[in-house]
Amino acid sequence: MDFEELKQECLACRRCGLCETRTNVVFGQGVPHAEVLFVGEGPGASEDAQGLPFVGRSGKLLDSYLEAIDLSREKNIFIANIVKCRPPENRDPLPEESEACKPWLRQQFQLLRPKIVVCLGRIAAQQLIDPKLSVTKDHGRFFDKNGTLFMATLHPAALLRNPRNKPLAFEDFVALRDKIHEVCDHTY
Ligand code: URA
Repeated sequence: MDFEELKQECLACRRCGLCETRTNVVFGQGVPHAEVLFVGEGPGASEDAQGLPFVGRSGKLLDSYLEAIDLSREKNIFIANIVKCRPPENRDPLPEESEACKPWLRQQFQLLRPKIVVCLGRIAAQQLIDPKLSVTKDHGRFFDKNGTLFMATLHPAALLRNPRNKPLAFEDFVALRDKIHEVCDHTY
C-alpha cells in the first residue's frame, strides 16, 4: 500500500458519523517521505471546504512558524489530523470518532515512519503522547516513544485567541529545528 492508495481508501471512509456531515475528508498534506509529522485535532470549516489541513486562519499562522524554521508542506513535512472529518460546530472529536479514525493515522505513521511527531494542541498531545499531558506545562519537551520523538506545542488556534503565548510556541519551533538537525537526515 502506498500513500496514494491509502488516501483513496480514506476518502471513501464511512467508519463514523462524521461522514454524514463532512464536505471533504481531510487526509493530510505533505511529502510522502517526511521525517517530521505534524498532527492537529481535526478539520475546521475551511479545511472541510478545501479538503486540506490547516488552510484557515490558524493554518496561515502555522505556515509562518514553519517557514521561520525552513519547513513547509510542499518541501519536507507532512501534516495530518487525529480525525479526518470536521466535527460539526468545531466541537472536540468524540472518543468513538477518534477511535474509528485511528487506523488511518496509524497507517500514515507506518508509511512515513517519522522521526519526529509534533502534536498541535491538547487533543493530539493527549492522544499521542500521554492522556494526562498538559500542553501549557509540557510544550516543547521531547518524549521518546520506541525511538520516535514526540513533542507537543500550542495549537495555532489557541495562539490566535491568546497572542501573548506566541513567544512560547516560537521557542518550541526553535527547539524543533535543533532536534531536526540532531536526528533527521534529509529534512534540511
Ligand atoms: N485545526 C486543526 O486541528 N486541524 C486542521 O486541519 C485545521 C485546524
